[in-house]
Amino acid sequence: MRYVPRLPRLASALVASHLPAAHAADMAAGAGNATAVLAAAIVLAALILAVPLSLRVLRDWQAARLLRDAHEAERQATERALRESRARYEEVVESVNEVIFRTDSSGRLTFLNRAWEHITGYPVADSLGRELSGFLHPDDVPAARTNLEEVAAGRRTECHCEMRLRTRSGEVRWIEAAGRAVHDGLGEPPGLAGTLDDISARKVAELTLKNLNQELESRVRVRTAELEASNRELEAFSYSVSHDLRAPLRAIDGFAQILEEELEDKLEPSSRAHLERIRKATQRMSQLIDDLIGLARLTRQPLNRETVDLAEIAAQIIDELRAEEPGRQVEVQITQRLLVNADRNLMRIVLENLLRNAWKFSSLQAQPRISLHAERDRDRRVFCISDNGAGFDMAFAANLFRPFHRLHSNNEFAGTGIGLATVQRIIQRHGGLIWAQAKPGQGAQFYFTLSN
Ligand SMILES: Nc1ncnc2c1ncn2[C@@H]1O[C@H](COP(=O)(O)OP(=O)(O)OP(=O)(O)O)[C@@H](O)[C@H]1O
Ligand SMILES: [Mg+2]
Repeated sequence: MRYVPRLPRLASALVASHLPAAHAADMAAGAGNATAVLAAAIVLAALILAVPLSLRVLRDWQAARLLRDAHEAERQATERALRESRARYEEVVESVNEVIFRTDSSGRLTFLNRAWEHITGYPVADSLGRELSGFLHPDDVPAARTNLEEVAAGRRTECHCEMRLRTRSGEVRWIEAAGRAVHDGLGEPPGLAGTLDDISARKVAELTLKNLNQELESRVRVRTAELEASNRELEAFSYSVSHDLRAPLRAIDGFAQILEEELEDKLEPSSRAHLERIRKATQRMSQLIDDLIGLARLTRQPLNRETVDLAEIAAQIIDELRAEEPGRQVEVQITQRLLVNADRNLMRIVLENLLRNAWKFSSLQAQPRISLHAERDRDRRVFCISDNGAGFDMAFAANLFRPFHRLHSNNEFAGTGIGLATVQRIIQRHGGLIWAQAKPGQGAQFYFTLSN
């Protein structure tokens, strides 16, 4: 609207500029002037009509341009986002250590990341279009093909397998392959997409371990055979000890006895004492031989496990000990119901030896006390036989469980020193452990466990 006041002036100016000055002067004077005014009015009207029209066209054009610019900016932003997302995706795909691959339905490689070149040594570009199975160790090709075919046929949607891959330099690498069926659409049969992980280091460690195990097993077999052989030797030795050694021993004892009887009147007291000592020594040696044979027999005897109440057996043994030495007053405490899964006869030998020791080595104690109880140590049960007797110095206890090893002299406490060796062998045969704790003059505790 703000153009309107200017329009008449503009029109007159235009009219003025289009008409020659002389002619205008003539017309101004005559009736012909009317035509000029009409023409000027028409031009003016046309101008009045044309201006808003052109303004509208201008506005539409500007709006269209703005819209186009906005579309263009949006398109560029989308393209940039796409480029960035693709770059990020490529960065991730290319930065992983595993090979990421894709094949078509015939097993030909259609995509590989850079890890492929790193693992196989083959450039990605040269490998695309070739069959994945072509890179495998010949022995692994049939299994790989079967896997691929099964996925392609839709019998399986995924496959996982370990196989060997031959690198460009001829090296063999172990690969863990995982793949699943992928469709390209349009009803095409599926190809395979997945990863190939280089597990050579793990595989080498596994195989080394397997070899070591096999070697260990074969060594165990050899050792077992050796042990069996030495066991047989030991049996033969026990047999010869029991039969061959016993005969001369019996002869010594027998002839000493004959001498004693024949020279009864003529024997000096000192000679009689010597003969007596010879006979005692042979009897003791005979006892040692019996103990040794008994110990050897323990290792061969099969274990016959059953539920055994240690408390019940211990109580029977204490009754026997009381009956043997009715004069002794010993305070005995036994925890009730100590149930274990063990060989009853062998457990009786264990308890007999440990309780007899406690009984024997507390004999000089004014108020002897013996106990049997069980303690819990984490997930195992520990049995303990304790006394307040002579005890011993732990500094000398290293060989406590060795046959014939004694910490007290025969004059103090009689014995052959085979008891604890026997006990340890039985405990070991039950898969358990035995150990001791003691102090001189303050009693001893013997602990043992039994595995079930
Ligand atoms: N409860 C105990 N208190 C003190 N010392 C013990 C106790 N039990 C065992 N010992 C020591 O351990 C040694 C070996 O014990 P072990 O039972 O093997 O032999 P032993 O009792 O002397 O003879 P054996 O049991 O063959 O008749 C004993 O001689 C003794 O020195
Ligand atoms: Mg003993």
